[in-house]
Amino acid sequence: MSLVVEPSPAAIRRAARLLHEGRLVAFPTETVYGLGALATAGAAVAATFAAKGRPAHNPLIVHVADADAAARIGRFDRRAAMLAERFWPGPLTLVLPLIEAAGISPLATAGLRTVALRVPGHSVAQALLRETAAPVTAPSANPSGRISPTTADHVAADLGDRVALILDGGACPVGVESTVVDLAGDTPRLLRPGGLDRATIERLTGPLAAAEPTNTPSSPGQLASHYAPRLPVRLDAVEVRQGEALLAFGAVVPPGAAAVRNLSPSGDLAEAAARLFAMLRELDHSGAAAIAVMPIPAHGLGEAIRDRLRRAAAPR
Ligand code: TXA
Ligand code: MG
Repeated sequence: MSLVVEPSPAAIRRAARLLHEGRLVAFPTETVYGLGALATAGAAVAATFAAKGRPAHNPLIVHVADADAAARIGRFDRRAAMLAERFWPGPLTLVLPLIEAAGISPLATAGLRTVALRVPGHSVAQALLRETAAPVTAPSANPSGRISPTTADHVAADLGDRVALILDGGACPVGVESTVVDLAGDTPRLLRPGGLDRATIERLTGPLAAAEPTNTPSSPGQLASHYAPRLPVRLDAVEVRQGEALLAFGAVVPPGAAAVRNLSPSGDLAEAAARLFAMLRELDHSGAAAIAVMPIPAHGLGEAIRDRLRRAAAPR
């Protein structure tokens, strides 16, 4: 039986069975592909950290099929209920106080008293979560620090020897990870910009605070190298230097690049987000010496795109 399969009803049943047996299953979400494990099975969650080479202090997102299932794992206040009602299923993760009795493996939450919860909108993710009928941890299905996968082939290339099955749902339509909002404290905080843009959330919550002061952009934690291709990355490039490949944006592209990919010739940020990780991978394998990236506007999905690019360019 091959590793990458069409998400037929039989394949979904097989995937759910594998999860219950403690195996890892990769599946598409609207944002990126996830590396799924049964969230209540400590050994399976541990295997997730091992497969990714992920530090154990970085907790995982728990995925469920709907808000009712989420409410059995995290404590919803009025703000959380409002955001869930408006944006789930979708590319939004809520960090809430953990209900200990839910039985989520403490490895998944890195021992915290909070839990990150997400209801993905992708039909394959929905089918898998409904069939599994249990919470599923799913970090992006890539080795820690590298570029997140937006196709089944990306997963097969990166973690093919680590997963029991990869459900192929085609290219992920959003292309950057979910937006993570922390509602465990009094002030709502934006922990990670992502596929749901800040302004849309702030219309309901008011201004979102930044991550804790210990996580200011100058601290290593926040700027740590992540989403990193093998090649060096140079941001806000307005010209191309010798030997560089170019990740372009918009209609006017400087000449001279060894290879070019354009995130969106028309300047559409949603299109750019959807293509970002795949194009970074392509340029990484283009034979160029470095990747230059043209300026990306900061509004809308541009915040998440710029966040990922900043980490791709951070000192290794
Ligand atoms: O779009 C996504 O969210 C994808 C797909 C597969 O659903 N998943 C994903 O997971 O991006 P991962 O593990 O790569 O990112 C999880 C993020 C990390 O930044 C982690 O630190 C944060 O969520 N996180 C998880 N639990 C948390 C908690 N209890 N408190 C604060 N942050 C938490
Ligand atoms: Mg990740």
